[in-house]
Amino acid sequence: RVFALIIVACQVLLIDASFQPALVLDMAKILLENYCFPENLVGMQEAIQQAISSGEILHISDRKTLAAVLTAGVQGALNDPRLTVSYEPNYIPITPPALQSLSMEQLMRLIRNTVKLELMDNNVGYLRIDRIIGQETAAKLGHLLHDSIWTKVAHTSAMIFDLRFSTAGEISGVPYIVSYFSDSESLLHIDTIYERPTNTTQELWTMPNLLGERYGKRKELIVLISKRTTGAAEAVAYILKHLKRAIIVGERSAGGSVKVEKLRVGDSGFYITVPVARSVNPITGQSWEVTGVSPSVTVNSKEGIAKAKSLIAVRKSILKAVKRVSDIIKRFYAFKDKIPALLNHLVQSKLIEGLYRSVVDYESLASQLTADLQETSGDHRLHIFNCEIEPESLHNVPKIPSPEEVGFIIDALFKVEVLAGNIGYLRCDMMEDIQVLRAIGPELVKVVWNKLVNTDMLIIDLRYNTGGYSTAIPLLCTYFFDAQPLKHLYTIFDHSERNATKVMTLPQVLGQRYGSQKDIYILTSHITGSAAEAFTRTMKDLKRATIIGEPTIGGALSSGTYQIGNSILYASIPNRAVLSAVSGKAWSVSGVEPHTAAQASDALNVAQKIISAKHQKKKSGK
Ligand SMILES: *[C@@H]1O[C@H](CO)[C@@H](O)[C@H](O)[C@H]1NC(C)=O
Ligand SMILES: *[C@@H]1O[C@H](CO)[C@@H](O)[C@H](O)[C@H]1NC(C)=O
Repeated sequence: RVFALIIVACQVLLIDASFQPALVLDMAKILLENYCFPENLVGMQEAIQQAISSGEILHISDRKTLAAVLTAGVQGALNDPRLTVSYEPNYIPITPPALQSLSMEQLMRLIRNTVKLELMDNNVGYLRIDRIIGQETAAKLGHLLHDSIWTKVAHTSAMIFDLRFSTAGEISGVPYIVSYFSDSESLLHIDTIYERPTNTTQELWTMPNLLGERYGKRKELIVLISKRTTGAAEAVAYILKHLKRAIIVGERSAGGSVKVEKLRVGDSGFYITVPVARSVNPITGQSWEVTGVSPSVTVNSKEGIAKAKSLIAVRKSILKAVKRVSDIIKRFYAFKDKIPALLNHLVQSKLIEGLYRSVVDYESLASQLTADLQETSGDHRLHIFNCEIEPESLHNVPKIPSPEEVGFIIDALFKVEVLAGNIGYLRCDMMEDIQVLRAIGPELVKVVWNKLVNTDMLIIDLRYNTGGYSTAIPLLCTYFFDAQPLKHLYTIFDHSERNATKVMTLPQVLGQRYGSQKDIYILTSHITGSAAEAFTRTMKDLKRATIIGEPTIGGALSSGTYQIGNSILYASIPNRAVLSAVSGKAWSVSGVEPHTAAQASDALNVAQKIISAKHQKKKSGK
């Protein structure tokens, strides 16, 4: 890309013998000595030489046009919109007066004009800084700033730090500001500034000693930015954002630069504007320069303060919500051994350290909490969600169907067929509650079960069954065992009641049993879940069925839904652990592994092949 630039430059400049390649070489020299990305200039000189000796000639005689062409060339080549070439024969550089040379009185006036503060309701401090002063000035004015400004806001419990109008400032003041919002124990590397003309790299760190008390790293901090926020203020916002110290609210900032200089090309009337320093953030490896700082919460600049206030209110309720989630887990979560780590993680590491900085509403709180709980426990069934209306499962009492509804329910839930070779096929798409099953029982036995009970083997298709009620599992299992002895199916450990229940087959069932001898095949898919999964697991555990298909979803036998305080947040928590009747160990969090893995869509085929292979073997064995 450098080649393109230089070739354009040479082609253009060769028209006028008085420019000669000297001007291009001067421009290149300026870039080589001043441009803050020297690595992008590798090979430039060689390219220039080559272009000079072989360049074609472009006919541009107007110097302003020429400057525009050069600007386009240099920007395109180096992909940096800050590089510009101008033709200004009458340009007189103006240097703004250095702050150091101002009298104390002038400095005081400057501060009064660029700093505003206010104490808002609920002990919220408001501090607006329109110009970030540099290190030397800060040292000079330290006591004054401390007494007249800082002491008035330092004791507040939350702060709105307004940088929306901060369009000027010095990078050397950045560590002061960031330090007041961090602690003195762990010093942080916050920025690295490289200056090309001096070829020096300077690391900016938070400071161990500050005048007065720090705001510290935990109290709520909202930083407001706007599309006018430029330079040092952008550095402050960017650093606080990536340290996760502040929530940035407003509009994407201007995307300024650490330092840009306008340099004369030789003694021509051409000037080239060059960024001579750059900032690299140690956390992101990137910078706020050119692209600006993107806010975490985007609002129109005018609405910044109102949004900040409402955020502070929402975030106050987070503390309460997290504590309540901890209580719920302590009381209801079935896997006791995981509770200490969960509570420790939630309360200690996250809340106390103030690490929920990305949380700006209930939705983001829910997803953050869910991620944390799942990561710490390895249990993907732990789930926090937000819901404006009360979720149904809180009062999930099954409805007993009327006699007219019975036929309809059976049609909806079951599909029955007798396949060639006297193989029964039963597809069931939802596990009904025991009360409902009892209500539809006589009809069910008549229209479904009696068609299947005399088959030689049975395929139970649970590929479309995402679960339902677990209350009927013992009844369903009972049909596949003999009346005596009763069979121990599994043990439920109810954490909230602190007792264990052995779940057994039932002594009596309606209709005839399938018995314990004939083969059972269960078809599964990755959506086979909750009660359907529990049924599958039990049958596999007791070696009563061959499972064919995909691993099941990995759900819980029963999860409770608990409202978090009076908020719109709810926690879904497995509240019962199930122990295998065979191993005595808790059922795993992951799904049921099939005996024979197959695509769900192919599982029925595979089952039929297995059955016929077995049949062949039996025949030839006889
Ligand atoms: C800049 O400094 C580094 C080491 O500090 C050195 O390796 C490099 O050659 C220098 N570059 C120039 C152009 O002087
Ligand atoms: C466990 O406790 C609950 C409530 O006290 C009770 O309903 C249930 O029957 C108990 N189970 C056993 C096995 O004692």
